[in-house]
Amino acid sequence: MNEHKETNVLDQETIAGAKGRNLDRYLRPIDTAKRLKQLMWCEFELSRAAFGWLPAVPDYEAKTRLARYGYVHNQNMKHLYDRLNELPGTLNEKNGTPPLIREAFERMSMASNAAAFFTGYAFVLRQLFAEYESLRLRLDSILDAPTADKLKIIDIERNGMIEWASGQSLFADTEDNVSREHAAQWNEYVTVVWLLFRQALEQGTDVSDIRWPVHPTDQPAGPVPTRASLDPKFPVYQSNANYKKAYEDPDLSPLRNSIKQMHYINATEIGAAEQLCYFYYGVQHMPLQFYFDAARHLWDEVRHSQMGVRRLEQMGYSTEQFKFFQVSIDSAIDDLKAEYFPDMYSSLTMVAEPCSFIKKRKSAEMFWKFGDALSAIHCEFDMVDERMHVDFGKKWGPELYKQINDPITAQEMSERTRARRLEQLGAATTPEQIKQIIKNFPGFCGLSTIELEYSTY
Ligand SMILES: [Fe+2]
Ligand SMILES: [Fe+2]
Repeated sequence: MNEHKETNVLDQETIAGAKGRNLDRYLRPIDTAKRLKQLMWCEFELSRAAFGWLPAVPDYEAKTRLARYGYVHNQNMKHLYDRLNELPGTLNEKNGTPPLIREAFERMSMASNAAAFFTGYAFVLRQLFAEYESLRLRLDSILDAPTADKLKIIDIERNGMIEWASGQSLFADTEDNVSREHAAQWNEYVTVVWLLFRQALEQGTDVSDIRWPVHPTDQPAGPVPTRASLDPKFPVYQSNANYKKAYEDPDLSPLRNSIKQMHYINATEIGAAEQLCYFYYGVQHMPLQFYFDAARHLWDEVRHSQMGVRRLEQMGYSTEQFKFFQVSIDSAIDDLKAEYFPDMYSSLTMVAEPCSFIKKRKSAEMFWKFGDALSAIHCEFDMVDERMHVDFGKKWGPELYKQINDPITAQEMSERTRARRLEQLGAATTPEQIKQIIKNFPGFCGLSTIELEYSTY
C-alpha cells in the first residue's frame, strides 16, 4: 500500500519536473482521455440543446435540421465514448454531465428567441470545432492514431452544421429590430460565458466559484417550452372528445378513405419526435447507451415525418389540407411527475409503435399490389425502424421505472400500459375483460387506433 503511495508521489514529481523541462508537449493516454471526456460532455449538452430547441422553433425545416444535428452531436459523443473505453480512466457516466459543463451549456442555450439561440449555437460550434482542431494537431499520428480517426469522422459534418446555424442566426425571426438587438446582446453574453467556462475548465475551478454575467432573459423561448410550436403550414388539430381512437376524427385528413392515409400518419410523427425531445432532455442519470438509443429513436421519427410529408406533396397534397397534433408537457420540465417520462415512453413503445407496425405491414403489401413501389418501400423502411424502437422500449422502459422505484419486467410493463390504454378508451370494464383483450394484440390495436382503407388507393 505504502509502496503504491510512494510510486504515486514520485510520478507526480517526475511529471512536475518534466513540465519544467518542457516535456509535457506530448499527450499521455490519460491526457487524451481527459480532453476527450470534456469534448464528449460538450457534445452531449449540444445534443440536448438542439433537441430541446426542436419543439421551440415553428419552422418545419428547422425542426428537421435540429433533429439531424442533435443526432450528429449524439453520434460524435458515441465516437468519443468508444475511444474513451480504450483509454485509461473512468467516466462515471450515470452521474451525467459534469456540473460546470451542464451549467455553461444551459446558460448558452436558454435564449429569448430562436435567432438568439442560433447565434449562440453557431458561435459554440465554431469554438468546439476549434478545440477539436487544436487537439488533433497535438496527437501523435502513430501513438494516438485511433483518436485521430475518431476526430476525422467527427469533422465530416463540421462545415454543414456551422453554415446552417450561421444562416439561421441571420434569418430566423430577425425581421424586427427587437429580435436583432436581442441576438446581438445574446452573442456578447454567450462569448463571455464561453470564455469563463473554458478558463474554469482549464484551471479546474468549481462551478460555484464562477461569477457568471447576468442572464439576458428570465423568459427563454427554449429549450423545451411547455407547448411546442407548429409551423403555420401544419394546421393544429383541436382535439374532439368524441373520437378516442387514434386518427378517428374525420376532420384530420382528406385521405381517411384511402390507403394513402398511411403517408399522413407518417407526416404526423413529428409529434412523436417532439415528445422524445422532452424525454431526451428531461431524463437524467441513465447510461449513455440509453441516450444513444433515444437520439436514434427521435431522429427516426423525424425521418418518418419527412418521408410522409414528401410523399403527400409528391401526390399533389399540401400539409395545409391536414391537421397536426400539438405536443405539450404538463408543467415546466423539472416539475413533471416522476412517472411522466416512463409512462409516456411506455405508451409510445408498447402501444402506439407496435400497433402501427400492423398497419405498416398491411400497407406495404397493398401498396405493392397497387403498383406503388415507393410507398411500399416507405412502409418497409418504417417497419425496420419501428422494430428497433419497440426493442428500445423493452430494454429501457423497465430501467426508467426502476429509477422511480417501480420495478417491473418488460412484459408486465407492456400489459399495464395496454390496460391503461383500454381504461382511457372505456373499452373494458372488468379485469377479466382487460386480460382477454390484451391477449389478442391485433384486437387490442383495433380498439386503440382506426384501421385504414387498405383496398382503396
Ligand atoms: Fe415512426
Ligand atoms: Fe417509432
